[in-house]
Amino acid sequence: MTQPHTAPHEPNQRIVLARRPSGWPDESCFRLESCPEPDCGPQDVLVQAIWLSLDPYLRGRMNEGPSYAPGFALDRPIVSRVVGRVIASRNERFREGDFVWGFLDWSLRVRVPRGEGLHRIDPALGKPSLAISAMGMPGLTAWVGVVELGKVSPGDTVYISSAAGTIGQLAGQFARQAGARVIGSVGSDDKLDFVLRHCGYHAGFNYKRQDMDDALRELCPNGIDVYLDNVGGATLEAALRHANVGARFPICGMISRYNELEDSGVKGMQLLVSKRITMTGFIVYDHVHKLAAYQQRAAAWFGSGEMRFHEDIVHGLAQAPAALLGMLRGEAMGKRLVQVSTAPPTPA
Ligand SMILES: NC(=O)c1ccc[n+]([C@@H]2O[C@H](COP(=O)([O-])OP(=O)(O)OC[C@H]3O[C@@H](n4cnc5c(N)ncnc54)[C@H](OP(=O)(O)O)[C@@H]3O)[C@@H](O)[C@H]2O)c1
Repeated sequence: MTQPHTAPHEPNQRIVLARRPSGWPDESCFRLESCPEPDCGPQDVLVQAIWLSLDPYLRGRMNEGPSYAPGFALDRPIVSRVVGRVIASRNERFREGDFVWGFLDWSLRVRVPRGEGLHRIDPALGKPSLAISAMGMPGLTAWVGVVELGKVSPGDTVYISSAAGTIGQLAGQFARQAGARVIGSVGSDDKLDFVLRHCGYHAGFNYKRQDMDDALRELCPNGIDVYLDNVGGATLEAALRHANVGARFPICGMISRYNELEDSGVKGMQLLVSKRITMTGFIVYDHVHKLAAYQQRAAAWFGSGEMRFHEDIVHGLAQAPAALLGMLRGEAMGKRLVQVSTAPPTPA
């Protein structure tokens, strides 16, 4: 057991939800405020945050939300996956200096009562931030989408939207490893260059500059066998039009709709019948029991350099709201994190 640490120099701060958005949020939805230095009670753990994860689902948590998925409380901290370092522990499962992750407040330092929901990060995973991205639940999401639900086989044509994002960059590499021809769509020419060079994509297009039907006709001349949907809306409709008979559509997310006030529907759903398409929505938490096996496989790929993962890091807690809004708008290349304190050296 370690003793509570001495007071750090920088006063503690946090980001709270100041108001619920209607449609697109802006920075007035958030407030940076001072907060008390946490005390380490019996069985508690104090964590210094290092990286905050910025994910599309956070937009939904800013709404009041249904009873099965309630939103963040007003004037209370935003919570997301956070990687940090234990700075004090009165819990025998954690020692000062451990790297940990959990769903934690957006705060420089937090108390984790009884260490509940906190996970020690295995050094074998590599850089600790990977525990909440390539080596964690987002990695498992891409794996489940491509391999288990997409059932990608050699020779398949796989189309993946938001190809340069967290899920997209991993899904592209998994689909290529499975022997598929992999096509991606992205929102900028820089992202297109990135996915073609680093994320396993054979071809792709910038959906903001090119008509989706023209691009899919040209890049998927034999049709789409698997579409991993991260975007929904017009992208899903285009994928339906270019799908083959018997295509699989793992539905991972629909970010194009997260800021819309009304559900404008999906056109072309009758194609599910005529093309016998299997469309499967999924939530990665239903697959959490597969995480350890996934991590074992993925540690080898990312550790050996066979696969790569790109992080887009913004610095400073105060920047977190703008960084989240920017990610929703498409600014981030790869996995967006906010680094709020000094990171440890990256293992070679
Ligand atoms: N089912 C699950 O368990 C699960 C788990 C994790 C994530 N997800 C979902 O998976 C999807 C990807 O998540 P992620 O964490 O990897 O996010 P991400 O792709 O890293 O980031 C979001 C990206 O979405 C793209 N985008 C935003 N608005 C768009 C629009 N109107 N049309 C097309 N693209 C748009 C932007 O890229 P461009 O510049 O390319 O437009 C943006 O960078 C999201 O829908 C998320 O909700 C689901």
